Parts: sequence; C-alpha cells; structure tokens
Amino acid sequence: MVDSLICGIDIGSTKVATIVGISTEESDGMRIIGFNADPSQGVKKGLIVDIDKATASVEQSIEKAERMAGHQIKEAFVTVGGPHISSINSHGIVAVANPQFEVVEDDVLRVIDAARAISLSNTRQIIEVTPREYSVDGQGGINNPIGMSGVRLEVDTHIITASATNLKNIDKVLNDLGVRNMGYIFSGVAAADSVLTDTEKDLGVALVDIGGGKVDICIYVEGALSYSSSIPIGARHISNDVAVGLRVSLDSAEKIKLYLSNNKEKVEEAIKKKDKSFLSPSKIGITEKLPEVTPREIVDGIITPRIEEIYSYIREEIVKSEFEKRIPSGLVITGGGAMTIGMVEEGKRIVRLPIRVGVPERASGLVDEVMNPMYSSTLGLVYYGSKQLFRDDASGKDFNSILKNFSMNDIISKVKKLFKQFLP
Ligand SMILES: Nc1ncnc2c1ncn2[C@@H]1O[C@H](COP(=O)(O)OP(=O)(O)OP(=O)(O)O)[C@@H](O)[C@H]1O
Ligand SMILES: [Mg+2]
Repeated sequence: MVDSLICGIDIGSTKVATIVGISTEESDGMRIIGFNADPSQGVKKGLIVDIDKATASVEQSIEKAERMAGHQIKEAFVTVGGPHISSINSHGIVAVANPQFEVVEDDVLRVIDAARAISLSNTRQIIEVTPREYSVDGQGGINNPIGMSGVRLEVDTHIITASATNLKNIDKVLNDLGVRNMGYIFSGVAAADSVLTDTEKDLGVALVDIGGGKVDICIYVEGALSYSSSIPIGARHISNDVAVGLRVSLDSAEKIKLYLSNNKEKVEEAIKKKDKSFLSPSKIGITEKLPEVTPREIVDGIITPRIEEIYSYIREEIVKSEFEKRIPSGLVITGGGAMTIGMVEEGKRIVRLPIRVGVPERASGLVDEVMNPMYSSTLGLVYYGSKQLFRDDASGKDFNSILKNFSMNDIISKVKKLFKQFLP
C-alpha cells in the first residue's frame, strides 16, 4: 500500500489556504492532516499585485499547516484564477503510426500535441489540456482510443491558458519559500473536482465558484470540461456596497453581511412578515453606530442588486460558451460568496436553471472546518493532485492530468516515462 502526501496552496483574493492530505492508493478517500486559512494580502481578483505581501501571507499559512500536519511542505499544487484565464477548444488530427493500424499511446500523445499547437502570444501560457473526446476514422464519442483499429485519430481538447506574468509571480512566491510547484490548477477546475458529481458532469453543469474577488466558471458537457473563464467581480463587492450604503467601515459591513447570511431563515421570515425592527449592532457584534435600517432594506436595497449584477455576468459567460442549452443540471455554486443571503434564490430567478450550493464532502480527517464552500477549490487541489500522482490509469481522458505543465520540448519523454508507471 502506498501513501502519498499531497499539499495544495489556494491563493485567493481574501484568503490563502494551505492543505495537507494523505491519499492512499487502495482506498478512495483523502485524509486531511493539515489545514490553515488566513487572510491574504497582495492578491486582487485572483492576481498577485504585491509579491512581498503575498509571499508573507502564503508563508504564514504554510507554516501553520505544516505545524498541524507535522510535515514540512516541500512541494504543492497551486490554484490560478482571475480574469486572465481563458479557454479554447482545439482539434487535433494525426495518422495512426502503427503498421497494424492499432492506436497506441504514442498516437494519443501525438494527437494531443497536435491539438495543443494553438497560436499563443508569449504573454500567455497553457496550464491545462483536457481531452474531451477522441474519434477514430470519423467515429466519435470515444473516451479511450488505445487498442482500437483505424488509420486516422482525432481529438477534441479543452485548453486553459493563463497570463504568463501572473504564473511567474506565483512561481516567485513559491521559490522564495522553497516550495516546488507541482502544477498550476485553474481554481474553477479544482472546485469542480471537490463538489461536482459524475452524473452532473455527464448531464451538463456549470460550476460557479463565487470567491471574494472573482467568479470562476467551468462548464462540463457530456462529462467533459468544455468551457472555462473567470469574471473580475466577487462577494467582496457585496460587502463594499453595504459599507457605502450604510456609511460604515468595511469590517462592520462584512460582519453585517455574514450575520444576515448566517441567519438567513430568520431574516427571510422577518422580511416576509414585513417586520420593521432595525438591525441591532450588538446582535451582530459591532461597536460602530448603525443608521436606523431594517434587514429588509439592506437585503432588497443593497445586497440583491449586486447579486443580480453578479448573475448577469455569469449568464453572459454561459451564453458566450454556447453551451447554455446543454447544462440541464444547472449551476453548482460554491466559494464563500455562494452562502450570501439570496444567492440561490436570485440565481434561479435570473438564470432560470436549477441551482445548488456545492459543499466539499468527501474527505476525512481534520475536516470540520474544511467542509465549507469557501474551501472547495482548496480541497480540490489535493483531489486533483492525488489523481495526478497515482489514482488514474492511462486511459483516455486522464491524459490531461499527465500532460499538465510540461513544456513542449520535454513533454513526450516525460509523459512516456510517467506512462510506464501506469501501464500494466
Ligand atoms: N457564511 C458566509 N455567508 C456569506 N458570505 C460569506 C460567508 N463566508 C464567507 N463569505 C464571503 O465569501 C468571500 C470569500 O470567499 P472565498 O474564500 O471563496 O474567496 P477567495 O478564494 O479568497 O477569493 P477568490 O477566489 O475570489 O480569489 C468573502 O467575500 C466573504 O465575505
Ligand atoms: Mg477562491
């Protein structure tokens, strides 16, 4: 039995979260042995805007997680998100090289490589290549073409690219802390890995991670990742609006928003009954004086309009993806912002699709704190990492996990070497 220690660092706009998990080859689970989340500094809308500050907050989070786990973090998977993320679906086609015309792993690697060959400016870098489906001699819908007979192999891939500058900044932060980067993972993909079910992915679903400074979107159609993007708006804007609307500090505004969201049922009941009682600062735990305002005035007058705006951008992205008719499972919303009062109800009204809140639930160990929508992408890092390290076999769609982050030059040799470990 092989145990593998897997670490993840989720550098968000409001928090840095570090996670240490143990994945066991034989069991299906992930045991969390270390976790920390602390406010992040120097990160805005998913982008590192101050390397020194970001390094200091990542360092602090890593140290705390190491202490809890009793292990030093030497390497980690890391999230990347924000409006610099973009995606494209690209097609690759090759002739099957084998004289018996049976597709072998080399053909698959070559066809993915052919699909990867997109024109890319040198300010962008590919962070993910996911095969969506293969076809052999024109017959499509194939998950794993290895062993099939044919002369022509084609693949449809989903490619996610990111700003090279931001990736370099993340690398600088990790280098300075002596942590080896095991791979960048789009935070939307990481969150999807921890909250989506296979059935949802098969039917078609949009994962929407509503963070503090950005919203990450991943659309799955027929089981395959088909669209990825990120919008520069998040739940922090709601707190800002409350601060401006009530003329209170951002700190108090955040507490008011959390109070209303965490007491959602009571607040909604009061709103329904047209209760005119004013919000009391002492109940919320703030010392600042509040204007005379009812919960209803804050929810209807300040929070809901911003939620509507957030969903209008989400809807725009879904329309842009051209998959709006192919996601009957609707939206799975996650990230801290998914817990905002009215977020589910307003979403259903605006997007007109089913919506549920995605909570990560599969791990064991020190998980009480982690089983929260805020940490979907954090937990997703270790699931993703464990899939990459040994969980998946060498079949079809799992090629993507092996192909990540390798430069074009050494891709074939590295992948071949890795494949040898997976093949029976
Ligand atoms: N219980 C809650 N109810 C409502 N909002 C909440 C709750 N808990 C957290 N939030 C909000 O969620 C946001 C933070 O979410 P999250 O931790 O997912 O962001 P992040 O990962 O740091 O940022 P990003 O992904 O945008 O870079 C904050 O704006 C916070 O106010
Ligand atoms: Mg996040």
